[in-house]
Amino acid sequence: MELTQTQQYQPLTDKSTNTKTYFIETYGCQMNVADSELVESLLKKEGYSQATQLDQADAIFVNTCAIREHAEEKVHSQLGRYDLIKKEKPDTIIGVLGCMAQSLKHDLLENKPYVDIILGPDSYRKLPELLNRKTVDTESFVDTTLSRFEVYDDLFPSRNEGINAWISIMRGCDKFCTFCIVPFTRGRERSRSIEGIVLEATKAVEDGFTEITLLGQNVNSYRHEKQEFHHLLASVAQIPGIKRIRYTSPHPQDMTRELLETMLQYETICNSVHLPLQAGSDRILKRMNRTYSKDHFIQLANDIRSILPNVGISTDIIVGFPGETEEEFQETLEVMEIVKFDSAFNFKYSPRRGTKASEYDDQIDEVIKQDRLVRVIELQKKHTLDRNLDLIGTIQTILVEKESKRSSLQWAGRTDSNKWVIFDKGDANIRELVSIKINEARCISLHGHLIKKAEAA
Ligand code: SAH
Ligand code: SF4
Ligand code: F3S
Repeated sequence: MELTQTQQYQPLTDKSTNTKTYFIETYGCQMNVADSELVESLLKKEGYSQATQLDQADAIFVNTCAIREHAEEKVHSQLGRYDLIKKEKPDTIIGVLGCMAQSLKHDLLENKPYVDIILGPDSYRKLPELLNRKTVDTESFVDTTLSRFEVYDDLFPSRNEGINAWISIMRGCDKFCTFCIVPFTRGRERSRSIEGIVLEATKAVEDGFTEITLLGQNVNSYRHEKQEFHHLLASVAQIPGIKRIRYTSPHPQDMTRELLETMLQYETICNSVHLPLQAGSDRILKRMNRTYSKDHFIQLANDIRSILPNVGISTDIIVGFPGETEEEFQETLEVMEIVKFDSAFNFKYSPRRGTKASEYDDQIDEVIKQDRLVRVIELQKKHTLDRNLDLIGTIQTILVEKESKRSSLQWAGRTDSNKWVIFDKGDANIRELVSIKINEARCISLHGHLIKKAEAA
């Protein structure tokens, strides 16, 4: 039976006496973190509580990622650990969730008999029913069906206390970049209602969360009944008491002027844009199916910087895409020189089974990929430092997020342009917005001192 978006979740029986425990390990992007919180809320409604240690849980789940080979390898090694736990405690339920479920189901069923449950990202509502069934059933259960409708609009995630609440606003991706597995693991694009999202964000603010991050595989292609992403952002920005709003991951194609103007209009929307370049050569961009050219991307970055002064722009870069020549790679470096990103996530191209690019017959040698990766990282380090040096002497509003890793006498928090700043605690408290004067810039973080408690927004 397929549940539809409109069907409300009902606990199956009174589970108030259930003493069972769960443990979830999450790999991959923030969408997976948010999905694990949804799964936790389903488990808690069944009376499960969180185990403090993996090997003591009655049910162990791994929420998986398939974006690059390395991500999959990490999950495989974890599964080896679960196998050992199951040998010791045969009643433990082992569940594989998320983006690897689809591609791994045959392998898991044939070679990993200790896995009891395999659920893809659109099948989590089945979990309570399965956990009950599992006690009388020894067969593995698999559901990796992808839905055109499921957005879990009526399910509130179970969040641990913190500063930032992740809120999924749309699921899936229709862009089909030729390197990317996401459209296959997550299915077609679909968005939640503005009302559902605003309700969830309002509750998160009431529960003490200071920052909201709106999430989607393609967050800015959000669309619900003629409402676009900038309409949604404006609605969330007006929630009483909200201090900061971020969003990720956008696609350059859907970066509209209205969106930038909305960001400018509301002080609560952080002044930071993630703008994934992937590559600088037009031929490679076309082969990647990225839908923009090098010039278009540079123009967009310029527009962003002129509409949003002091904005932070970060990016994603892939080196060694099939057929990428040295000259084409240098165009990536050239765009980096022109845009001077504030930070970048850099990746070696990793062939994913089932994607178009994995079938191209001009795959790049690993040694060349590694060499290009090192060059991209080196150049980005220089740009990050240059951008950070520009902030020396300025006063920045920082949200106090956590204790510095280096010293218990210092706080760490971010500027609204998404840069980490370390400073002596003084009388500042966690969750407060404070004004910090920047004294020193390093490649990874900035250092400064407390001027005053801002409580700006
Ligand atoms: N929707 C986002 C990206 C999500 S995946 C966007 O379009 O920007 C996050 C990043 O992983 C991508 O931006 C890309 O740089 C990287 N990535 C995706 N598939 C990859 C692959 N096969 N090999 C290497 N990096 C990849
Ligand atoms: Fe993958 Fe492209 Fe979709 Fe981003 S836009 S998730 S890179 S297919
Ligand atoms: Fe990984 Fe799936 Fe996210 S493949 S990056 S967990 S959408």
